[in-house]
Amino acid sequence: MKALVLAGGFGTRLRPLSCSRPKMLFPIANRPLIDYTLEALSKEESVDTVVLAVYYMAESLVRYLGPTKYDLGILYSREQRPLGTGGPVKKAKDIMNGDRFMVMNGDILTDFDYKRLIEYHEEKGGVATIALTQVSDPTRYGSVELDWEGRITRFVEKPEYGKAPSNLINAGIYIMEPEILDYIPDEGKVRIETEVFPKLAEENKLYGFESHGFWMDIGEPQDYLGANAMMLTKNNLNKCGESPEIDPSVVIRKPCNFGDNVRIGADSIIGPNVSIGNGVQIGKGCRIENSVVFDGVTIEDYSSVKSAILGENSVLERWVKVESGSLIGDYAQIKDGVTITERVSICPSKTIEESILVPKQVM
Ligand code: GTP
Repeated sequence: MKALVLAGGFGTRLRPLSCSRPKMLFPIANRPLIDYTLEALSKEESVDTVVLAVYYMAESLVRYLGPTKYDLGILYSREQRPLGTGGPVKKAKDIMNGDRFMVMNGDILTDFDYKRLIEYHEEKGGVATIALTQVSDPTRYGSVELDWEGRITRFVEKPEYGKAPSNLINAGIYIMEPEILDYIPDEGKVRIETEVFPKLAEENKLYGFESHGFWMDIGEPQDYLGANAMMLTKNNLNKCGESPEIDPSVVIRKPCNFGDNVRIGADSIIGPNVSIGNGVQIGKGCRIENSVVFDGVTIEDYSSVKSAILGENSVLERWVKVESGSLIGDYAQIKDGVTITERVSICPSKTIEESILVPKQVM
């Protein structure tokens, strides 16, 4: 079976970090997101080939992955313009060769049992089966109503609080029969969730399978930090790359993951839930918690970073504070004593000389 991985989105909610890399290459515990997906698919016996549907920053994905990884063949379906979550399925129809196939969003992290999903799909005989997952709050997703035979009867997009038919949501993983292609228009952008699945549900040809295990989608910065924390915790990581120079007085609170050539000065406290990329330099008396620090970042003495993401080669000078879902773009420089709080995004290469205490995008 081939698995089509949707990997061409802009990742707008993760801008400015997604301005210079596709979401699939964002590091999670210092490994690109796409690696988790491919590794999981390689463990599913019936999947031998992954088709990556690419558009935004396609070349960096092709360069990173090449023709094979984890013993999976990798093919690329390149779009000339964005086709959404449904158009790429239609576009890849020749590659799918008239066989049953799997489709998944490339921006999820999960340990679902794909084999059970495939077996359930075969047993039910629908045109498509959607993997469903339980969430405590379905209001930011689309909630699903099932009948007693597992057929999906209704979708409610972003239900109001208390009005969701269930706590089950579309997990972004599907098993599909080639007939699905008849339901997807030939040209242009199609949102499969709202333009294709409701039609199939109306015709009683769509099933939902409640999958168990962990599941996260990475849309917002908080999701990304949550996914990083979850992967660090799951693997109980406290891993250090090559050639670290860490002062003996540094306190490391598990779980954390450090890349190669990381330097940390005296009396700094790192963790929990921190990933630090290659070549990162951290001065004395720094505090880093629940954050992702990309490669080549410099954090000078007495600075603190909490629930934030620091892009590649960004620089925090002395006594800087970055907090609360803030994103610092690649090569940005935050000057001495500046505080940045509350979902502030700083564009790449910007220099910030004054504190920003309200949500804001600095272009
Ligand atoms: P936002 O822009 O922040 O919403 O993120 P996104 O680009 O990831 O969009 P969304 O979360 O809706 O996408 C779900 C999945 O579909 C992700 O894996 C995307 O990479 C993928 N995707 C979205 N649009 C396209 C597209 O036009 N082409 C392809 N090939 N994949 C897409």
